[in-house]
Amino acid sequence: MKEKPERFQESINDLLNNNPAESFRRRRHLIETDLLTLEEIENIFSLAEKLKAQKEAGSFPLELLRKKHIALTFYENSTRTRSSFSIAAANLSANTVNLDISTSSVSKGESLEDTARTLIAMGVDAIVQRHSQNEAAESLANAIGDAVSIINAGSGKRSHPTQALLDCFTMLETVSSLKGKRIAIVGDTKYSRVARSNAKLLKRMGADIVISSPPELSASDLADLGISFESDLSKAVQNCDFVMALRIQEERLEKDLKIDKNSYIEKYQINHGILKEAGQNAKVLHPGPVNRDLELSSQVMDDSKYSLIEKQVANGIFIRMAILALLLNS
Ligand code: CP
Repeated sequence: MKEKPERFQESINDLLNNNPAESFRRRRHLIETDLLTLEEIENIFSLAEKLKAQKEAGSFPLELLRKKHIALTFYENSTRTRSSFSIAAANLSANTVNLDISTSSVSKGESLEDTARTLIAMGVDAIVQRHSQNEAAESLANAIGDAVSIINAGSGKRSHPTQALLDCFTMLETVSSLKGKRIAIVGDTKYSRVARSNAKLLKRMGADIVISSPPELSASDLADLGISFESDLSKAVQNCDFVMALRIQEERLEKDLKIDKNSYIEKYQINHGILKEAGQNAKVLHPGPVNRDLELSSQVMDDSKYSLIEKQVANGIFIRMAILALLLNS
């Protein structure tokens, strides 16, 4: 039997006010998932699940963040993250201020901190920030203290917490637990914030992670996490429950590093051939944007038996709604 909308509202209120909600709210910011407890993370997932059900029951927008102002400050390009934060805010009745960096005073030399302080003086309640520097979100949060919430929408090659949360949430829609699940993260892991954030979060959720990358694109810094490395893709994907393909991060490669794309396709492309080695019910994820027929074949990308990519995008809205609602609901 379908739950009634008022029943959802009751559950949503509980999830916004329970102990993990309050401890997450006290942190004020979302910089990386390893700063959250597993209970706080489970609570984000439970709230996202309820919000998704409420959307299906047709009762959006919610009034939870009426009169709140959320600044979207993207110093690097984005389609998915920026749009989904914007839709998430609208679904909660919040207003968004979308800073166009190229026409803002950042182009006249205003610093990140001064830009943030200017937005804070105007009364914004949260700043969602993407930046090419690894420490950008953390440094801003340290500089402004508790004035407003800083939400990391991707910083350098280090962290992309909302992506890892939505990826994990999407996997948990197909399996009841990630404990003991084998997950291959494939491709350019060295320059990927998605690889780093996912490896850390999935490891905490109990998954067995294997990284399969060309040597020059391998995130060797993740070895300390106790994950395995297998450069032979057919071995890496054996018995996998999930295969996560990653884009070559051209914008972050060292200048003299040239990738032979034909060789990359031959050794690391996720396609139907390689998926024969994976588990029978293996699913494929990709954070996007996808370079079709490079790291992922078009046939697999569009094959609903395997691809969770559209589900990842759709779930991004509910995870980001949950985060905004938890941090800003007062
Ligand atoms: N996955 C992701 O961060 O995509 P965008 O760069 O389009 O936001």
